[in-house]
Order: sequence, then C-alpha cells, then structure tokens
Amino acid sequence: MSMSENLPDDVFTLDALRDFTPVGVQLGVVGWPVRHSISPPMHRAALKVLSTASPRFSDWRYDAFELQPEDLAEGVELFRKKGFRGINLTVPHKVEVLPLLDEIDPVAAKMGAVNTLFFKGSRLEGYNTDGYGLENAVKEAFGQGLTGRDIVILGAGGASRAAVAQCIHSSAKSILVANRTLDKAQAIIDSQADELGRGSAISMEEVPAAAAPGSLIINATSLGLSQNDPSPISVDELPEGCLLYDMIYNPARTPFLEAGLLRGYPIANGLGMLVHQGVRSLEIWTDEKVSAQAMRIACEQALAAR
Ligand code: ATR
Repeated sequence: MSMSENLPDDVFTLDALRDFTPVGVQLGVVGWPVRHSISPPMHRAALKVLSTASPRFSDWRYDAFELQPEDLAEGVELFRKKGFRGINLTVPHKVEVLPLLDEIDPVAAKMGAVNTLFFKGSRLEGYNTDGYGLENAVKEAFGQGLTGRDIVILGAGGASRAAVAQCIHSSAKSILVANRTLDKAQAIIDSQADELGRGSAISMEEVPAAAAPGSLIINATSLGLSQNDPSPISVDELPEGCLLYDMIYNPARTPFLEAGLLRGYPIANGLGMLVHQGVRSLEIWTDEKVSAQAMRIACEQALAAR
C-alpha cells in the first residue's frame, strides 16, 4: 500500500516532486516518513524573520518531501534539475546519500552522515550540522559546550557516531560510548581511534561506575521515544555533578531526564539540538546570521499543536 494516500497537503511524494515547479528559492526536508517533521514550520519562521530584514528572502520556500530510500537518487537529481538550493535529510537518508555527493565537508565525512545538501551550481555539497547543533544546545543549556568535558554517550547508532565525532572536534576531555550491544560501541571507538585520545566502549550497566564526577551524559539511543521505554541507564547511581542531555525532544521529558531531574541534575532535551542544526543549515544556504529564537518558538508551537 502506498503511504502517499493520507499525506498532509504540504508533503510532496516523488510523483508530486516530478511535477513540482519552484516559485522562488526552494529548500526542503526529505525523509521516510517525513509527515511528523517540524522542520518546515521551523525554517519558515526563520525565513520570515530574514525576509523582514531583506526582501531578497521573500520568495524563499521550505517544504517536506517524502521519498523512499530507493527513490533518493532520483529525488536528488530532480532537486538539482529544478534548481533547489538546499535540502535537509532525515531518517533514513543521511548515510544513503553519500555516494550522490560531489563534495563532503570533513566533519560530515568523519560522522559518516550528511543532514544538509547544498546545490552550488551543478555541484552537490554535503554537510552535517547535527554536531554543531549538539555543541550549541549543550552550551545554551549548561553554559559551556563540549570542550574540556568528560562525556558519556549512550547508544551506538548514527546519532551516537555524529556525537562522538563532534566531541572529538570540540576537544572533549574524555569520551565513553555505552551501548546495549557492546560490539557496536567498540566499532565507533575503533573508527575514530586516530583522533580519540581517551575513549572506550562500555556496557550500559558500567556507566554509573565509569562516569567521572561532573560528566555530561548524552542519550543518543532511541529509548524514551516510546511511552513505556525505561531509561537506558540507572541515573540514581551516577556520580555527583552530572549533566543530562537527551537528543529526544518528543516527549519533552524522557524517563532518563525525569530521573535526572529528581536527582537534582541539570537536564535538557533535544529541542535545542534540532533548532541549532536548523540554524546552521539555513546559515549555509543563506550566508546570513540566523536567529535561533524564532525557530525555537515555531517548534514549540508545532509540538503543542499535536
Ligand atoms: P540512530 O541512527 O537514531 O542513532 P539507530 O542506529 O537505530 O538510531 O540506533 C539506536 C540506538 O538505540 C542503538 O544504540 C540501540 O542499541 P543496540 O545497538 O544495542 O541496538 C539503542 N537502543 C534501541 N532500543 C534499545 C533498547 N530497548 N535498549 C537499549 N538500547 C536500545
């Protein structure tokens, strides 16, 4: 059965993309599924702010495109032909897109994933702004970014890999990667071993004893997305002074964050990361400074309306 039948009006399928004619400078997000993405309202809010300061942004548009993995190559070719300026990629396209790029930003190459496409003339450049988003969200929430911190990353999927690369890029003091499946945590550590001075893979159970006091603990697992999920670690046994960051923003408070709050640790959810990765993507496309505030408010409104 096709998933296109019940799509909201402003989500385009591959068929709709084939008939799509941009009216101005066109941007968008591509995912499978994509209908729940709050990137369109977030970027439209920022474009509105930009266009009040400069009329050149008044015809910029941002839409959502729902493409299956096997249709990504055709989709990217259509974006290129139709003169799109930029595309955000979300699940499951961030890795699949790599062979389609003409050029990849070094940080994105380290992450092995791209969330931002920039069509520069006929050339296609790939960037990853998720790490920048994490760095800025942590700075905003806790007053200091990743630099010099002891960091524990929970999970060993794509989100974890990007976080590890960013922690290295930002010169974290130490990095532990914890995962249910230890081999996958070890694979991330091994893949970044050249730059990773102090890093190791541990089990979830080992986290409380292995974490240094004052560590930043980042949940990069999907645990917490579903209603009855437990916290990935026992927060009650963590040492003093930890800071808890969850990449999940919906629900706003996962069991991991809830337990942290009860213990009196500073906590923050993934909304800041979503906003700041969006800020950076839009800065790449516009070459202008973008304010996070309008984007955050648009996200909060979109989430509240669900
Ligand atoms: P993403 O690309 O968003 O990082 P992913 O690659 O599917 O998503 O990774 C999901 C992460 O959540 C993995 O670290 C996974 O652990 P495993 O590698 O052991 O599968 C973790 N995860 C998902 N469900 C989990 C559960 N029930 N308990 C513990 N960890 C879980």
